[in-house]
Amino acid sequence: MSKVTIRVPATTANLGPGFDAFGCALSLYTYVTFEETEAGLEITGCDESFTGPDNLAYTAYCAVISSLQEEIRGVKIHIDSQIPVGRGLGSSAALLVAGALGANILRGNKLSTQGLLNITNAMEGHPDNLAPAFYGGLTASMVDKGLPVTVNFPLHPQWQFLALVPDYPLSTALAREVLPGQIPRADAVHNIAHGALVLKALELGNEQLLRTAMQDRLHEPYRKNMIEGYEKIAALVRNLGAAFCLSGAGPTMLCITRDDTLREKLEAKLPTLSQSHPQILPLHVEFQGACQV
Ligand code: HSE
Repeated sequence: MSKVTIRVPATTANLGPGFDAFGCALSLYTYVTFEETEAGLEITGCDESFTGPDNLAYTAYCAVISSLQEEIRGVKIHIDSQIPVGRGLGSSAALLVAGALGANILRGNKLSTQGLLNITNAMEGHPDNLAPAFYGGLTASMVDKGLPVTVNFPLHPQWQFLALVPDYPLSTALAREVLPGQIPRADAVHNIAHGALVLKALELGNEQLLRTAMQDRLHEPYRKNMIEGYEKIAALVRNLGAAFCLSGAGPTMLCITRDDTLREKLEAKLPTLSQSHPQILPLHVEFQGACQV
């Protein structure tokens, strides 16, 4: 085989208190086609600034072929992505996952999904977006002796995810620079307890429990000033009965609800709360991880 197209879901990392650990795949997709050629690199379908050898799909593609100790030849890569770039919805992880899976399929499927996760996690540093992008659904991951260990958690089928996507990007590196190196013990305890209850609430479909548990002290308090309208939007969403968190490092904000009317209520009120005109994307959980299409 010399040509393959890979579909990878968007992902939301953290889910409030599950900083760098929890993640969930959502129903927005990146499609990446890889066609092996004799020589050269050609990347299309993205901004010109992403068409060089540092393109994440290409770097992951090369990392997998190198790990197989095979020769990297030429490749044409075409990217067709619905995932907004730099918004905290896993657009970078989707490219890494596509590159790794594309290379593995083109070279005879010699590596397992865990093997591909190991390689991409070594490049990205934390598995919270990568794991749900590979496996689909709701995941929690830890890194043990340098290697990611992931489990899937059950999710109630009636959750709806509304992503509020601002009209500006936020670099994850910048959003990590504002985080303190050390935290009070009480904040660590808060996040361990709240994180465990977030997973149970998501399984049970218990909206009230989710709203209460989905409160973070490790990253959102330090990042909120970088996100226009965060305080007012968080208060509105919680007052309307839904759970609220940042999606990944932001700036996208995520509402999780079982209320079919939440979108309509937000559409009426959001424009008065934020100058950044967040676009409301109604999404659902994607249980299928990255795959060949
Ligand atoms: N968990 C990361 C962060 C985002 O919040 O900085 C994506 O891996």
